[in-house]
Amino acid sequence: MLGNFIYSNPTKLYFGVDALENLKDELSKYGEKVLLVYGGGSIKKNGIYDKVISVLKSAKKTVIEDAGVMPNPTVEKLYEGAKLARENNVDLILAVGGGSVCDYAKAVSVSAHIEEDPWDKYFIRFEEPKCKIIPVGAVLTMVGTGSEMNGGSVITNYKEKLKIGHVFGEEVFPKFAVLNPEFTYSVPMYQMISGIYDIMSHILEQYFSGTDDNTSDYIAEGLLRSLIHSSKIAVKEPQNYEARSNIMWIATWALNTLIAKGKSADWEVHMIGQAVAAHTDATHGMTLAAVSLPYYKHILPYGLAKFKRYAINVWNVNPQNKTDFEVATEGLLKMKEWMKEIGLVMNIKDLGVKEDMLEDIAKSTFIMGGGYKVLNHDEIIKILKESL
Ligand code: NZQ
Ligand code: ZN
Repeated sequence: MLGNFIYSNPTKLYFGVDALENLKDELSKYGEKVLLVYGGGSIKKNGIYDKVISVLKSAKKTVIEDAGVMPNPTVEKLYEGAKLARENNVDLILAVGGGSVCDYAKAVSVSAHIEEDPWDKYFIRFEEPKCKIIPVGAVLTMVGTGSEMNGGSVITNYKEKLKIGHVFGEEVFPKFAVLNPEFTYSVPMYQMISGIYDIMSHILEQYFSGTDDNTSDYIAEGLLRSLIHSSKIAVKEPQNYEARSNIMWIATWALNTLIAKGKSADWEVHMIGQAVAAHTDATHGMTLAAVSLPYYKHILPYGLAKFKRYAINVWNVNPQNKTDFEVATEGLLKMKEWMKEIGLVMNIKDLGVKEDMLEDIAKSTFIMGGGYKVLNHDEIIKILKESL
């Protein structure tokens, strides 16, 4: 049964090889000063920077640049960006990059015009912004997070060993996003694969919860099948437009709130993965891949019917003459084969974790409680040990 919900998503998407042609019209809706936010320089190498600057110039914008947003953006960088946006009184923040750049742009948008510390306000106390919010637009260059069409913003505080996401309301979603699959061709293979698993995990976090008959789960299964199919092609042929465009579109739908509607969601894999990243600075999707299977094996007995359904509907496991447990386990085995086939990191040791770090990582792990089993500290340690 679907629970009660409101569905609305304010982000306007421009999808396809000509998507950037719409940027000028979008820019005309905002004032003259644009904060151009980007990462470590990939957009200068692949030519996207020049294309965006040319549109900004033709739209007669004054551009203030905020470069150097790192993967896993830090709280220190957020303080800098908020100051820059405030001092220049910018009218729009244009994020050109992946999830880190989009997340950071959203965090800056709600932090420029507040007196308090944004880390404490949004990421510790989870308050909603009451201040002036600077509109954000995005030109996406890396696929995975869904940040282009959601209110999520994940910031890392290495001093406190915490990586925390705040899910903001509609007023913080990007106003528009330009999605050209060709802009993702230059993404390094490791990042592309990591992004693919991030998408997988987003769908599974929302799928592995609840016992009812729920349309959102059927949508999730379709997205999963399409992702598995296209990912196998993309790793062999990174410039296959069909595969890359499908993956881009799946990523957006995986985390734009649609498939969570009317049902509960888990998010514990993300909590463990984010704790690993807070101690290692590892790439987001890889942290999820490295802890997923031990986690799913642990919770499988508590959500057996859904794991069986996953095996049959997503991995084509034949259930004949097998117990439910055997069917469900075979599904996870097929998932493992696929993970190896596309080249994911399968353990946290390869991400820099050592055994003596496990206690601290477990302490940095938030317990969510929306999935099939609410974990205790010992269970998190067990899962981390199996992920080593
Ligand atoms: O820094 P640049 O030079 O841009 O290089 C980036 C970065 O090194 C590179 N890259 C991006 N586009 C490229 C490219 N290189 C060549 N060509 C291109 N076209 O890829 C690297 C990774 O980029 P990043 O933005 O960090 O990756 P991703 O999109 O995976 O974002 C990860 C961040 O998003 C958060 C993660 O926790 C992490 O901090 N998440 C945000 C979510 C949300 N807003 O809803 C949900 C997710 O679960 C996730 O937590
Ligand atoms: Zn994620």
